[in-house]
Amino acid sequence: MLEHTASAPARAHEALVRAARSSWSTAQDVRRLATRILEDPQQSRYLRRWLSTYRRSTLDLELPWLPFQVIDRLDAVLDRSSRVFEFGGGGSTVWLARRVGEVVTAEHDPEWHALLTERTRQFAGVTVLDLDMSPGLDDYVASIDAFPDGFFDLVVVDGRERVRCFHHALPKVRPGGVLILDDSQRDRYARAFGIAGEHRHVTIRGLAPCKTTRAHTTVWTVRDA
Ligand SMILES: C[S@@+](CC[C@H](N)C(=O)[O-])C[C@H]1O[C@@H](n2cnc3c(N)ncnc32)[C@H](O)[C@@H]1O
Repeated sequence: MLEHTASAPARAHEALVRAARSSWSTAQDVRRLATRILEDPQQSRYLRRWLSTYRRSTLDLELPWLPFQVIDRLDAVLDRSSRVFEFGGGGSTVWLARRVGEVVTAEHDPEWHALLTERTRQFAGVTVLDLDMSPGLDDYVASIDAFPDGFFDLVVVDGRERVRCFHHALPKVRPGGVLILDDSQRDRYARAFGIAGEHRHVTIRGLAPCKTTRAHTTVWTVRDA
């Protein structure tokens, strides 16, 4: 059988094309990063940390895909007495597992479910729920209903069906606790602001691990009923 092997000039050409593509995409990323810093010079304080995450996986880094500012705030307020629910797992699941007493993660993707279960096996107090996409994601959205009202110190809505999840999550956060909606600038999530009503919120925009686009996250503090 004749085996096809590329000639040396062809291989060199391919390598050059790959290198050119890679430096073009790096140049694009540098341009985006410069734009982020020019938009908000305060973000330069996260530059070194952002660079250490560039082109890496949040799961391997064990970091949430949230703005550094939000990560630091959570790091300051969470401890072993904290209970957290998240819609959509990832690096955040491991990050939380290292800090809080209880993490419940609703995950729709079977592969991510398997990966997260493996990566959190060593931690007590972590439950990754396998909630497949079928049918209509109703089980995924309603998974938090199994817990009493006011049970969680923090709920992070960062997966599928965010507005519906947000609606189910709100009563489950204790007074004084925190409810987070990531990518809250998206038009399709705008209804969450109406659902939250009078609860105080702040929107954080800024650099986040591994992201070249500006992260945009809204954080509500749930007040007494
Ligand atoms: C926005 S991600 C959730 C991110 C997670 N809350 C975090 O902060 O690490 C939504 C879904 O994408 C998948 N996912 C998680 N981390 C990912 C990653 N680093 N790259 C690609 N997909 C990811 C999972 O199926 C997850 O439910």
